[in-house]
Amino acid sequence: MSAATAKAKKGAPAAKPAAEKKAARIEHPGLLDVRDLKAYFRLSAGWVKAVDGISFTLEPGESLGLAGESGCGKTTAATALIKLLPENGRIVSGEVLFDGINLAKRTEFGMSKIRWKEISMIFQGAMNALNPVKEVGDQIIEPIRLHDNIGEKAALARAKELFELVGINPKRIGEYPHQMSGGMRQRAMIAMALACNPRLVIGDEPTTALDVMVQAQILELIEKLREELDLSFILISHDLSVMAETCDKGVIMYAGRVVESGSVEQIFNNAEHPYTRRLIKSFPNIHEKREMVSSIPGDPPNLLYPPPGCNFSPRCERCFEPCTSVEPQLTEIEPGHFVSCHLFGVPDQATQDAASADVAATDAHLAAALEAEAQ
Ligand SMILES: Nc1ncnc2c1ncn2[C@@H]1O[C@H](COP(=O)(O)OP(=O)(O)O)[C@@H](O)[C@H]1O
Ligand code: SF4
Ligand SMILES: [Mg+2]
Repeated sequence: MSAATAKAKKGAPAAKPAAEKKAARIEHPGLLDVRDLKAYFRLSAGWVKAVDGISFTLEPGESLGLAGESGCGKTTAATALIKLLPENGRIVSGEVLFDGINLAKRTEFGMSKIRWKEISMIFQGAMNALNPVKEVGDQIIEPIRLHDNIGEKAALARAKELFELVGINPKRIGEYPHQMSGGMRQRAMIAMALACNPRLVIGDEPTTALDVMVQAQILELIEKLREELDLSFILISHDLSVMAETCDKGVIMYAGRVVESGSVEQIFNNAEHPYTRRLIKSFPNIHEKREMVSSIPGDPPNLLYPPPGCNFSPRCERCFEPCTSVEPQLTEIEPGHFVSCHLFGVPDQATQDAASADVAATDAHLAAALEAEAQ
């Protein structure tokens, strides 16, 4: 039985405990609707605002690319979605609506029913984190048995089927990680992510450590699996060409915020945010004649002390009067195309006041949480 058939034949879900049954469904578009999500890290010096109010949606079967320079909050956003933040991380506010259920408010028990079965993740650098003294097949069988509650024989058959699905000869099921190439180990990680037939897979830099040829093969594999299994995919990458080649939709992050989002065509053919434009210019286009690419001068801000107003203002060549004091808001400039920049309109006083009140409320909430912890 192929994984696709397995997905179609997936039985009725096991009865959920009463607390989870009561989780309210909220009307929302698409499969995933992330609304003003904030996830911060606590350090002794204060809070690192790694994800500071991001919003985007994802339809069933759609692939979304999440891009931006290193340190802009992509991994934090992904781990916040499935509530697997490091110990000092916390979802401060916002909603993560998955099929109408707000995951941000879900208990750890509730999340254990969602992770791997509904949403799975290929972690950054995971292929290098395989246990070197354990057969790769066994490392795939383990989560299958854990989450699907099936016997060893059935789990082995399933692991072989998954190997086949991701293009590894099932005869290699007994090999150790060092016997496999980087590309093959990454295929095994993808197999692991698919083990419980999730509807959404998040790949955090799944091709970054691979050479260009193998990168292309892995992206092709992801594309094939997405079509065959009708999967939704969030593909995180600091490399814009990955988004261009694989995704329907793009979300550009800078310093913890979404600066632009839209269809891949809107992002690449009609980028409007000064950061997106510079980011696109900083990648060589393999289809055009080779020329020097221009890097973006300066560095992203320290998110422990983000600048007031627009986070990009210290590096923006178009910075003007309100940019260093007023925070821009994500605004729809054409259907489905959102930009957060004062060049497209400075928020009116009421919106500015509401944004300041929101920041004050978050600060008060964090201060109260710290005080409660200290007692
Ligand atoms: N556990 C942590 N504690 C404190 N700061 C963190 C932690 N993890 C990440 N950060 C900081 O959060 C910001 C976003 O990091 P990350 O989400 O890993 O970015 P990206 O995936 O885009 O490279 C960075 O400034 C990073 O230094
Ligand atoms: S808001 Fe101002 S500083 Fe920020 S990107 Fe737009 S023009 Fe540049
Ligand atoms: Mg990362």
